[in-house]
Amino acid sequence: MAGYPEDLRRRVDAYLAALRFSDGAPTSGLEEAMRYSLLAGGKRIRPVLALATARAVERAGHPDPQVLPFAAALELIHTYSLIHDDLPAMDDDELRRGRPTCHVAYGEDVAILAGDGLYAEAFRHVLAHQAGEPAHVLAAVCELAGATGVNGMVGGQYLDVHEAAEAGPAGLRALHALKTGRLIGASVECVLLLAGITAPATIPYRTFASELGVLFQIVDDILDVTGTADALGKPQGSDERLGKRTYVSEFGLDGARELAAESLAKARGALADAAPDGAAELEQITDFIYTRTS
Ligand code: IPE
Ligand code: IPE
Ligand code: MG
Ligand code: MG
Ligand code: MG
Repeated sequence: MAGYPEDLRRRVDAYLAALRFSDGAPTSGLEEAMRYSLLAGGKRIRPVLALATARAVERAGHPDPQVLPFAAALELIHTYSLIHDDLPAMDDDELRRGRPTCHVAYGEDVAILAGDGLYAEAFRHVLAHQAGEPAHVLAAVCELAGATGVNGMVGGQYLDVHEAAEAGPAGLRALHALKTGRLIGASVECVLLLAGITAPATIPYRTFASELGVLFQIVDDILDVTGTADALGKPQGSDERLGKRTYVSEFGLDGARELAAESLAKARGALADAAPDGAAELEQITDFIYTRTS
């Protein structure tokens, strides 16, 4: 992945590979299904964003908040969302991260529980292992729960499967901001909370993080049309098959590309305001999210 902070990705991968969840043989099959999806690859954008934000914060003169446990929790939650997103009752997809989806490999019942398990273990992991002032850790965990809940990812997934988003461009943006944007936003914002940084210093970071989240899903919509299953590690054309509302269905491919370019410019501008001392890794991730092919 050219232009991506590979050193951060390697740190995340090594940390995730060492995680174990089950206390004994009776539940080892559940752990196997959880690790099957978690360790299948994946770009690790959310935890890498968290580590990159920690570096930017350190460059601005704050102590490094050491967010690896929190970063791992982000990836556990993201993996849970993918397992459930692929279920027959949701997007009904059979390929993920280049492998048969969790329900294809282990059955729907185990896949549902693997997602549930990853979600709960994510919070247990942060609460047990994340260093920092207790008030800062609690604030970050509260934001993380909010970003995944009814006014975050799960609410966005509801709007997606239930076709409940408002009509028009603002409704589509709100859908993307919830289902994908809030967790990506939390990957940046929670690190500021862990570092004890409060408003107004956080405002440009929040603008950056929310724009980056929407940019990510616009590009995901484009890749669903222009990508290949080989490169994506997931089926191409899933949105069209399901009649999903996307930036491509709403604005056409060229329109979606233009809006992605506008979103990139906004995200870059906000990042320059947020981190005047420089944020090389965050800049790299921002450009990668726009140019990625997987
Ligand atoms: C895919 O996320 C699901 C969306 C939120 C669009 P990623 O593209 O980050 O998937 P992985 O983690 O790299 O597999
Ligand atoms: C899913 O969006 C967002 C999640 C919260 C998982 P998509 O349904 O577009 O994600 P992909 O394309 O299957 O990865
Ligand atoms: Mg979906
Ligand atoms: Mg899907
Ligand atoms: Mg998609």
